[in-house]
Amino acid sequence: MSNAAAPAPQASDRADNPVHVAIIMDGNGRWAAARSLPRAEGHRRGVEALRRVVRAASELGILYLTIFSFSSENWSRPATEIGDLFGLLRRFIRNDLATLHRDGVRVRVIGERTGLEADICALLNEAEELTKANTKLTLVVAFNYGSRQEIAKAAQRLALEVAEGKREASSIDADVLGRYLDTPDIPDPDLIIRTSGEQRLSNFLMWQAAYSELVFVPIHWPDFDKAALEGAIAEYARRERRFGGLVAKTGS
Ligand code: FPP
Repeated sequence: MSNAAAPAPQASDRADNPVHVAIIMDGNGRWAAARSLPRAEGHRRGVEALRRVVRAASELGILYLTIFSFSSENWSRPATEIGDLFGLLRRFIRNDLATLHRDGVRVRVIGERTGLEADICALLNEAEELTKANTKLTLVVAFNYGSRQEIAKAAQRLALEVAEGKREASSIDADVLGRYLDTPDIPDPDLIIRTSGEQRLSNFLMWQAAYSELVFVPIHWPDFDKAALEGAIAEYARRERRFGGLVAKTGS
């Protein structure tokens, strides 16, 4: 696609070909515990899995890959673990940004920036700025992200516009609210994968997931690889997406 002004592609209607895959990278701690290793080692190996999966997503023609790397609720973890996770994000951007850029990956960050340390904000801005013209794959990093917080923030901005007389309350519908979320330029995920066997969304993309297919895989995130991604996509391809309508019948 050469037209830079073209709208973001919409959620795929081809069941075997997800445009947007989102991943809840769960199980780093359990992976480490099973090996009598510190949790930090699980997270470190989680970053290695992330590198593999970004490469695999690109090879498989996925256009958007969203990863849940730090949730609004992760602040309740011990300070040392929070420090480890922030350290890994810093290192990931410092070490991998040039490679991501070379490989045509655009980095987008969603979530709340307020309250993050200045150097983290600067790194996130640098990653977005450097890669903004890339089109091979958009890597959406959900950092300090929570879906309820995102929706509440959108509601606040809309309420302010109504209070200031800039908008009629009756003009607010699902499309308008969707444009005030962190993802107005990103199609809804076709497929959401959660590793480690847990089966819930945990405040991740709850608005955007309205018609996503959910695939739960029993392996911990540090063991996730291209074959596991292909397995999840194969499961997705077996699903019948109806978006609230009826099953499409062939030949009618
Ligand atoms: C869940 O495992 C994972 C996280 C809370 C963070 C995911 C982070 C990474 C993969 C590494 C950092 C990311 C970047 C972009 C640098 P868990 O700790 O909840 O595992 P458990 O449920 O087994 O304890």
